Amino acid sequence: MAGGAAWKDVMRQEGLDDMTLLSKVTNEQIRDNLKERYDNDIIYPKLTLSSQTSISDVLISMNPYKAIPIYSKEIVAEYVGRSRIELPPHIFSIAEESYRSMLNEKENQCIIISGESGAGKTEAAKKIMFYIAEVTGGGNSGGRLEQVKNIILETNPLLEAFGNAKTLRNNNSSRFGKYFELYFNKNGDPDGGLITNYLLEKSRVVFQIPGERNFHVFYQYCVGATQQERNDYGINSAQDFVYLTTGNTLTVEGMDDYQEWNDVRKAMNVIGINANEQASIMQCLAAILWIGNLTYRVAGEKATIADQGTLDFVAYLLSVPVAFLKSALETRQMETKHGANQRGTSYVVPLNEVQALAARDGLAKAIYSKLFDWLVERLNVALKSTSPDYCIGVLDIYGFEVFDNNSFEQLCINYVNEKLQQIFIQFTLKNEQEEYVREGIKWTPIEYFNNKIVCDLIEEKRPPGIFPVLDDVCRSVHAVSDGADKALQQRLSACSENPHFQLRAQNFLVKHYAGDVTYKVAGMVEKNKDQLGKDLIEMVQMSQNPFITGLFPESADSVVNTTAGFKIKTSANALVGALTKCTPHYVRCLKPNDQKLSNVFDGPRVMHQIKYLGLLDNIKVRRSGFAYRTIFKKFIERYFLISGRTSYAGQKTWKGDDISGCRAILEDAPVDKSEWQIGSSKVFLKAPETLFAFEDLRVNYYHNMVSRIKTSYRTFRDHKHKVANRIKNAFRTWKSCREEAIAAIQKAYRAYKGAAPYFDLKMAGEKLVEGKKQRQRYSLTSVRKYFGDYLGMKGQRELLAAMGPGASEPVMFSAKGQAVVHSSILGTPKLSPRFIIVTQNNIYTIMLKVKNNLATHILDRQVPISQINSASMSTQYDNFLVLHVTEDADLIVSTEFKTEMLAWLNQHGSIRNNVTYSDKIKYAKKKGAFKELTFVKDTMHKQAALNPYFKKGKILTSDGMPASSRVKNYEFRKKGAPKARVERPREVVQVRRGNATGILRGTTKAGQGAKNTVNVPGHDDGEAADSYAPAPTPIRGGGQPPGPGGPSRGAAPARGAPARGGPARGGPGGPAPGPTRGAPQRGGPGGPGPARGAPPSGPGGAPRGGPGPSRGAPPPGPGGAPQRGGPGGPPRGAGGPPRGGPAPGGPQRGGPAPGGPPRGRGALPPRP
Ligand SMILES: Nc1ncnc2c1ncn2[C@@H]1O[C@H](COP(=O)(O)OP(=O)(O)OP(=O)(O)O)[C@@H](O)[C@H]1O
Ligand SMILES: [Mg+2]
Repeated sequence: MAGGAAWKDVMRQEGLDDMTLLSKVTNEQIRDNLKERYDNDIIYPKLTLSSQTSISDVLISMNPYKAIPIYSKEIVAEYVGRSRIELPPHIFSIAEESYRSMLNEKENQCIIISGESGAGKTEAAKKIMFYIAEVTGGGNSGGRLEQVKNIILETNPLLEAFGNAKTLRNNNSSRFGKYFELYFNKNGDPDGGLITNYLLEKSRVVFQIPGERNFHVFYQYCVGATQQERNDYGINSAQDFVYLTTGNTLTVEGMDDYQEWNDVRKAMNVIGINANEQASIMQCLAAILWIGNLTYRVAGEKATIADQGTLDFVAYLLSVPVAFLKSALETRQMETKHGANQRGTSYVVPLNEVQALAARDGLAKAIYSKLFDWLVERLNVALKSTSPDYCIGVLDIYGFEVFDNNSFEQLCINYVNEKLQQIFIQFTLKNEQEEYVREGIKWTPIEYFNNKIVCDLIEEKRPPGIFPVLDDVCRSVHAVSDGADKALQQRLSACSENPHFQLRAQNFLVKHYAGDVTYKVAGMVEKNKDQLGKDLIEMVQMSQNPFITGLFPESADSVVNTTAGFKIKTSANALVGALTKCTPHYVRCLKPNDQKLSNVFDGPRVMHQIKYLGLLDNIKVRRSGFAYRTIFKKFIERYFLISGRTSYAGQKTWKGDDISGCRAILEDAPVDKSEWQIGSSKVFLKAPETLFAFEDLRVNYYHNMVSRIKTSYRTFRDHKHKVANRIKNAFRTWKSCREEAIAAIQKAYRAYKGAAPYFDLKMAGEKLVEGKKQRQRYSLTSVRKYFGDYLGMKGQRELLAAMGPGASEPVMFSAKGQAVVHSSILGTPKLSPRFIIVTQNNIYTIMLKVKNNLATHILDRQVPISQINSASMSTQYDNFLVLHVTEDADLIVSTEFKTEMLAWLNQHGSIRNNVTYSDKIKYAKKKGAFKELTFVKDTMHKQAALNPYFKKGKILTSDGMPASSRVKNYEFRKKGAPKARVERPREVVQVRRGNATGILRGTTKAGQGAKNTVNVPGHDDGEAADSYAPAPTPIRGGGQPPGPGGPSRGAAPARGAPARGGPARGGPGGPAPGPTRGAPQRGGPGGPGPARGAPPSGPGGAPRGGPGPSRGAPPPGPGGAPQRGGPGGPPRGAGGPPRGGPAPGGPQRGGPAPGGPPRGRGALPPRP
């Protein structure tokens, strides 16, 4: 299984990952599950347990005794940042959980690894170190961090060399306890560490049972020492040293001592042990080995060193005088006290063989033990942390031990294991159940074995435990003798009340939580004393080697009262104190068999461990209890998001008391009520899955919030774009509106500017005639406006051609009209049609003559304006204007626009208001020959003004508007000329659509209609409305009067073509309008009044305007119609038929002009 994924799959297939989920809670089920997994190389099931504040797993680790590829860096990577429920149970999972909890909860953690010797505790601890070193630092981590990680990793080969040994149970058995606190800074990087070592099994230095070895380091040294070291320190083969051969085992299967020694030397270098120090260490090791080779010669009760050479060499190695060494190894100083305050007498007593051998071995053990402490101390110096923030403690302590012969060492080891079991019970069972009672939680209590009674049996003072009894014996019995053991045997009876204690002959039995162990009494007192004789201490303190004297800093007197039992009790309680301050994690190591064999599952052996580890109790408590609990405040802080009653939009909103807040959250969560309880200060959740569900809800909330924020942002972004587009569009619209408005304003302004001179001109004209001459009604309307160039001279090529050089002069006025001419024979005056064109300098009259059957424009007269000094008009309603010309015949014209023409000439010529109003006007027929025009009112001639009766100078006129008539709104329009008539056109158009009533209602002030526009005295409303509407008003001369749209609208038809739609709308079937009188106004007849300018009813049909008298139309008579011109061709001059179809009467009456269709422009002129 190379990859992690494949391994994971296997892990999930066999047995149960979590044994709290077993269907039956029995020891057998636990064992079977372990076996099923073990058989498939799955060594890590777990128990999900609860502790005070969190759910923690107890990892079960079964020693496979073979390499399983589940510790690669790839698998490390899989566990990084993953919760323990995501991946199969693993030692990395525990490491990860501890590390993350430390960072997240900001609490120190500890991992308590327990199990029998050889179960795999040290391997597990190493894997944890490896994991932490792998997952921390990296990237920019500085040199210090890497150094710390290196030291942490290098502690293992060093401490294992000096602290581990091959035993029957374990080829690499840790012969000391170790609590390794790894320190971290706030970033989670290792910052240092602290190693606390417990109870090194120093007896191993001098003795090993068959099949076991001394500490690894001696054998490694013997194979790995340099030649120099061999020469200097007498290092030979391990075989040559007594201390290394008592177990009769020199090598360990699978262990390369030479390689290991290299690792040790490398580790020393990494840790910073310098060459001198290393040399001293070698010297001490050699000294120990050579001390073991010292032999005694026994004579009675006196033992003396047998081999002086060895003694000398040991003295050399210890750098002490030989005599002192000899004395310390052969004798003992005794001191007798005679009274409390009296100084005793001291004397030297020779040692017997037992005492001498004890002194020798004691010296060796002391040096080794001190050397080991020095190494640990030195590691701690190298690992010293400046300011640690957090800590993960890893406890790898010797496991529970049961041998055939168990002595003081086993008692100490098993005592420590009892203490650790106590913590475990406290965390997982006792505290938990007590808490349920305290909090008033309903649950079923679980029976479990509380091993406190065993701890008390060993350590308590009252009733006295084993250690206090031992200490008591040590204090009272000085000598190392059978007497001491006997004394202990007697006094241990004090412990017999404890049901876990049985005193037997020369030994005693303790019923440990892990099983019964029988301890031998012999040698216990001596071992408990753990004292190097005063003579030996004084001797080593005389060493010339400061390293050696440094190992024994204490004074010879101060060591008297510290027994091994006292020390282990003190350090065990200190350890318990340290562990209880951390969040605990448990690794419970099991061994599948005692033979260190792979693939062998010894059922009963495993069952024994299952029982004493109390796994069944753990599962029961877990299943009947509550997996998780926490105080109300913390619960709300963590899960307020789950309830709408406690949060809004990701913010905590709860203002009530904590317990109600918790209740709200729990009730609102989709969790069954039986899954939780509320205690007096805490919330309790039954199943771990419930907690995971809460976590999921919380995480999902954030997830949803993120999605919602994303969606909102997208919506906002879209909206922003939409709004931006709208603003852009609005801006564009505004811009175009503004441009339109500007264009409209400019247009209006231009119109105003263009119209203004004409307005002024009109006012000037009004002033000229006001009160002097009767008026046309139309002239008085506000609609009527001076326009000047009624013929649109720019487009009149024929007229311009006729003007000759004058064509280049700016045209100021042009219109159709008639001029008074005199017959060449009789000189009789008569009227003749003329185009009247006033340029800046001259007045031109142009006539049409038929030449070669073609209508040809011919210049009739050209009168310089400068020669016109005065003018004359009648007082009556007519269109005659007499212009008196100096040095030539006067020019007499009849045109509808005579007032405008006069006004212009008055302004720009030489008339200078020299205008005479008279009904008898004398004029010069030619220079010096005068004639007279006589104006006679004849009411019968209704249309005289438009179509005057003229005969021999006599003109009949009809009634016009009084001379006193004034233009309406004169004053107002003076201020804003264009405005005065702006409102009406809408109504006109709408009226034309035949919805006058309704529209008028909507567009004019109630009931007023068009009346407001014209206010002509003497006219009723109906007339006013009629006269207001421009549509039926024919513009003589073909031009449309400047309509509401401004001059441009009137310009088009000025060429004589009927205005667009004129004939069709104006009167279908009626005769086409004459060329001079023009087309009916575009607006069509519309009004009910008489259709001015419309031809009388004829065969072509009645004009729409109705049968009213047709003002201005020539009376029907022979030739009348032709004279006025028939349709003469397509009304638009474009050759197309008029919309209304050719007037039926047209061709008959006038027919097409000779020569066929006109040249596309205008109708045929009237015949002269
Ligand atoms: N996870 C493992 N994978 C492979 N082999 C293992 C594993 N754990 C332990 N072993 C084997 O078991 C041996 C004993 O393990 P270890 O030294 O960790 O036991 P221990 O519990 O520390 O015993 P002791 O209390 O004697 O120190 C190791 O040397 C190794 O060979
Ligand atoms: Mg170990």
